[in-house]
Amino acid sequence: MQLNFWLLLLLLTINSNAVQFNQVPLVGPDDWNLNALPSPNATGHLVFDTISSLLQHWPNTRYHYGHTIVPGTIPTGTLLYHGRNDPEVPTGREWAATDSEFARVFCVEPVECWLLTLVTTRPLRVLYFDGSSANKMPDGPMDTQDLLAWGAVLPERATVEWEYERLNRMCDTLGFDAMQLNFEVMLCNFTDGVQIQTLSKLEEEPRFPHPTYATFHSSVWHDHSPGETRIRLDLPHAISFYDTVLVPSLVSSRYGKARRDHRVLGIDERDVLAVLARVRTIPSHLVLSSNSGIDWRTLFQGIRDRYTIRLDVLQSVLVEDNSVQRAFVLIQTLLGPYRLRSAVVPPPSGSDTAFAAPVFRLCATAHTLFADSESVQATFTESEQLLLTAVRETDKEICRTLVRMWAEGVLALTRDPASALSPDLRLARKWRAEVDRLMDWLGWSVWVQCRPACTAPQESCYLPGVPFSMEEWNSTTPRCVRLFEPYAGLPEWYAGIFAYFFLWDGGGILTAF
Ligand SMILES: *[C@@H]1O[C@H](CO)[C@@H](O)[C@H](O)[C@H]1NC(C)=O
Ligand SMILES: *[C@@H]1O[C@H](CO)[C@@H](O)[C@H](O)[C@H]1NC(C)=O
Ligand SMILES: *[C@@H]1O[C@H](CO)[C@@H](O)[C@H](O)[C@H]1NC(C)=O
Repeated sequence: MQLNFWLLLLLLTINSNAVQFNQVPLVGPDDWNLNALPSPNATGHLVFDTISSLLQHWPNTRYHYGHTIVPGTIPTGTLLYHGRNDPEVPTGREWAATDSEFARVFCVEPVECWLLTLVTTRPLRVLYFDGSSANKMPDGPMDTQDLLAWGAVLPERATVEWEYERLNRMCDTLGFDAMQLNFEVMLCNFTDGVQIQTLSKLEEEPRFPHPTYATFHSSVWHDHSPGETRIRLDLPHAISFYDTVLVPSLVSSRYGKARRDHRVLGIDERDVLAVLARVRTIPSHLVLSSNSGIDWRTLFQGIRDRYTIRLDVLQSVLVEDNSVQRAFVLIQTLLGPYRLRSAVVPPPSGSDTAFAAPVFRLCATAHTLFADSESVQATFTESEQLLLTAVRETDKEICRTLVRMWAEGVLALTRDPASALSPDLRLARKWRAEVDRLMDWLGWSVWVQCRPACTAPQESCYLPGVPFSMEEWNSTTPRCVRLFEPYAGLPEWYAGIFAYFFLWDGGGILTAF
């Protein structure tokens, strides 16, 4: 045991310089300036976040305007559901849902409730629209569908009346079996590729706590990664309206706006044509990885796993404990694989953080060095170029922020080793601002949590927004809601749900209370 330990230490000491293989140097020394903030118009982090949030309910409630269109496939043997008030089986284009709890909302008692269960008999090729794309609202969620249906964003058509016309246009021109909108599958042909498994007349749902509880709850299953897994997406053909090469006209309309207000409305005609042309190049079969073999979903998730929890802890250490010392330990851990011994031996002095540039570079390129090589890039689709840029820009800013803090900690310790960084309120405040800025820039919705966490088994953490609480669409404060009364003292929220479902229920919910 002991021998191994010393041997390990010896090896670590010998390998104190990073040797990078197979690398095509694409960036000059200027790129490793620790003080250079990302451009306000850069969108790599937005592509990174939207792509790694696809088919997850929570982030797509928070940012309910869609920005991504991705082809995907629903495998053979997958169950789909359709609820209605009569036993008639649709024959034309009609909606289905991946969860029966959702389908059931559409056969609310006291009218008869019929639940149709379908099963796919072959892989269904679907086109998925992210955001809260099943909600017919004029202020954003329909933008990307409008573009594909009519070649323009038409907010006045965000009504139930236009729903089937929009679907017809997309089905007739795009060559897919269905449009995937949130957890709703708009089938282009109710009899092709699916067969009826059962048609059941169901008894009433329990009225306590209220008939829509199950619906609300089923969305929670798909809140976070991996989200809805019954649709497999081919990321090598993802189209993003945050792609500034494909859609440059949106750069100026986003400028200065909060992310929640980013829309596709305002896109120019040239860019619309470019997007439509790109949609036409989507192959008719599932492509999970291109010739490069890179699994983008896994690559993205691996990066999120590295930083999600630890950045959150870092922030809380700086906010709650004001402890630079603890924060420094965390930063050292976060940068573990990149803290080159050669950068700190001999110890740097003064106040210049430039000594940390090799650490920054090693950290920022670790996940992309392979993909960055010319021979690998030669195999990429245009979408993969976008995905690579997204990883590169996101990683770079995470690393720049962390490495700069690390370098400041190293310099402070060199100046005054006895201090052990504690207490240093000035540095604590500075680092806290930096971590806040980084996390805000990344915008990962997994950090929007109920705090303190919901602990009772009958509680769940609920993010207000569409469709259950329209009036709170821009809330960033989720809350614990209880299954049973008292509903955490939030009557106005329940009033929101009541108003929404009152239309279908004819007042039945209200009278039940
Ligand atoms: C639906 O598919 C069936 C079976 O393939 C076909 O006969 C029918 O014409 C299709 N309907 C439409 C509207 O395309
Ligand atoms: C960002 O975009 C705006 C609007 O198009 C433009 O005025 C500005 O110069 C751009 N800034 C940078 C740093 O590119
Ligand atoms: C939410 O949106 C409303 C307008 O719809 C606005 O007045 C309010 O300031 C926004 N709140 C936040 C937290 O952005």
